[in-house]
Amino acid sequence: MIKNVPPMGWNTWNTFAENINEELILSSAEAIVSTGLKDAGYEYVVIDDCWALRERDENGRLVPDPAKFPHGMKYVADRIHAMGLKFGMYSCAGLMTCASYPSSYNREFLDAETFASWGVDFLKYDYCFKPLTADGAGLYRRMGLALAGCGRDILFSACSWGADNTHEWIGSTGANMWRSTGDITDTWESVKDLIKKQYGILPFGGVGCFNDMDMLVVGMHGRGHVGLKGCTDGEYRLHFAAWCLLASPLMIGCDIRNMDEATSRTLKNADLIAIQQDARGARPYIRKMWGTEEDLPVIIRQLADGDIAFGFFNLSDGPANMWYTADDLGVPEISGKVLIGKELYTGEEVRAACGVLSALVPPHSCKVYRLRVVNK
Ligand code: GLA
Repeated sequence: MIKNVPPMGWNTWNTFAENINEELILSSAEAIVSTGLKDAGYEYVVIDDCWALRERDENGRLVPDPAKFPHGMKYVADRIHAMGLKFGMYSCAGLMTCASYPSSYNREFLDAETFASWGVDFLKYDYCFKPLTADGAGLYRRMGLALAGCGRDILFSACSWGADNTHEWIGSTGANMWRSTGDITDTWESVKDLIKKQYGILPFGGVGCFNDMDMLVVGMHGRGHVGLKGCTDGEYRLHFAAWCLLASPLMIGCDIRNMDEATSRTLKNADLIAIQQDARGARPYIRKMWGTEEDLPVIIRQLADGDIAFGFFNLSDGPANMWYTADDLGVPEISGKVLIGKELYTGEEVRAACGVLSALVPPHSCKVYRLRVVNK
């Protein structure tokens, strides 16, 4: 059965786009194991767009490009499964994929069967070239139906970028996660924009259909397809913490075969991953500090053991004195309780002295805590 927590894995698109092949996929899968990412919880190895030939075969089936995948997809799946990992692939609900390869439009049942026969465990399903007269919800429901009946547990990862009010209908399609926003790029502006776009749509995510903020750019440093300017390690730490506290799927997008030490540490932060994977599945929520602009969100999530995940996020360009009351976290002074905890990147201890948590947060930076409610 598919676990009902936001998935974790690696996807080819952000760095490699059309430059994909069997060797890349298998060496990256090996790197997931050898670098400890598998032990940290990353399990899906996902081939994004550009894996197929431009034409279907004589039986109408999709064909992996033999120049890129000389042994076919079943072979790739078997090798990935033998490493204790899961295998993901990509298709599209519209007339073609976003990079103009064959899509699954009107071939949903046949393609779901094909993916199942190859041993696919995850299908990312895009939204490009949707005919204007077609109903997006209907197209996703078709694929949801086809996957449910294909005889294999295949996680359904919808990728309609929040278009056409996705949040209103995605829960009825059987999707396990849904892309709520447009494509990420490896820039500070993109990370900030994607976080701010969550303010109004958090009530539509969570258990059953996780709100996917897009694949991570952590560690790309400007290299690869969506590379552009790149971010600093501190910006990547904020990016990763926000995705974890907001319970987004964590799909790594950098070249994990060549990760530097800082990237590896960020991606394997066990305290943050535990928050993202929390079994209770409570929805996170965002508050903005009184009298401040939208660039100083506080992100909060209640956890299964009674702890609270809590983060000050400074998205602005100057330092910020951020504070929040224990009362607003559900712990009034009169309860006889107090909040204590530690910052999850530095280990620094924190205590809500006089019922207030506060921190001086540098620009483009965050302070994230796991808080425990204890007797005074
Ligand atoms: C869209 C998706 C991306 C990626 C590309 C592939 O832009 O949002 O994540 O899958 O298509 O072409």
